[in-house]
Amino acid sequence: MSKRVRKAVFPAGGLGTRFLPATKVIPKEMLALVDKPIIQYGVEEAIASGIEHIIIITGRGKGTMEDHFDNSFELDATLERRGKKELLEVSRSVATLARISYVRQKEPLGLGHAVLCAKELVGDEPFAVILPDDVIDADPPCLRQMINVFCERGGSVLATQTVEGPGISAYGVLAGSPDPGNPRIYNCTGMVEKPRFEEAPSTQAIIGRYVLTPRVFALLEQTRPGAGGEIQLTDGIKALLKEEKVYGYTFEGKRYDAGDKFGMLQATVEFALKRPEFGVRFREYLKGLKL
Ligand code: UTP
Repeated sequence: MSKRVRKAVFPAGGLGTRFLPATKVIPKEMLALVDKPIIQYGVEEAIASGIEHIIIITGRGKGTMEDHFDNSFELDATLERRGKKELLEVSRSVATLARISYVRQKEPLGLGHAVLCAKELVGDEPFAVILPDDVIDADPPCLRQMINVFCERGGSVLATQTVEGPGISAYGVLAGSPDPGNPRIYNCTGMVEKPRFEEAPSTQAIIGRYVLTPRVFALLEQTRPGAGGEIQLTDGIKALLKEEKVYGYTFEGKRYDAGDKFGMLQATVEFALKRPEFGVRFREYLKGLKL
């Protein structure tokens, strides 16, 4: 098995119910954070981390993602005719960002099932999984940090963040202990999907970035529906843990849950403040609000 991580799977076949009514017709992954669909942030992170091939798992009503990462002849021709060179460049550059393949998940049977849909395209090599609604602001990119750990240690790597209190019940949670040599690495011995607060084995919550070995596909094929009646990726990784090393990794950077209304509001404010073209004006605007 090659050690290079060349492919990234983007599960985007879910229903996005937390963001209704916006997601009744528009895929959650296409909601704009300032001026870019949230999935584009993930694609840019993958490319900046050395990924060469992106595999997006789509579903019913998700066709706009394919249009977004493709040429838009009418739009480009109009922008060209009007001499809007900068905007033309913005539109064209999205279509040339990456090599992207699409696989359709016929029914949203869960995150584990969505990842399994990429089995043939990934083949027998390690791969990344990026959940597009987790937008991560980090330098170096979160996935790059994780690939570095994978290359150094050789086992699967799950991005984590510390969650104190009952909020932990929304996540997959690791059991294990911190690595004596590197406080960012957590030596994983088990994991539980969405535990009750009192039963959470630690405060290490799994977030939307994974580097996995291809063995996980065979294990996901044997995984039965778990929490919420869905085929859970966490259950597949739990089976992997019996055969191979799995590490948690506290990434350096900040994560926003843009698939959640409040998380999207936080991301919007913080990303807007960082934009050179209007960040100063936006800061003044916020200061002027009588809060
Ligand atoms: P989420 O649980 O955050 O997404 O799954 P969801 O189900 O779309 O959203 P809510 O909870 O109803 O608001 C994490 C990621 O996994 C994908 C989702 O698209 C999301 O990017 N997913 C989930 C699939 O691709 N297929 C599934 O069957 C389930």
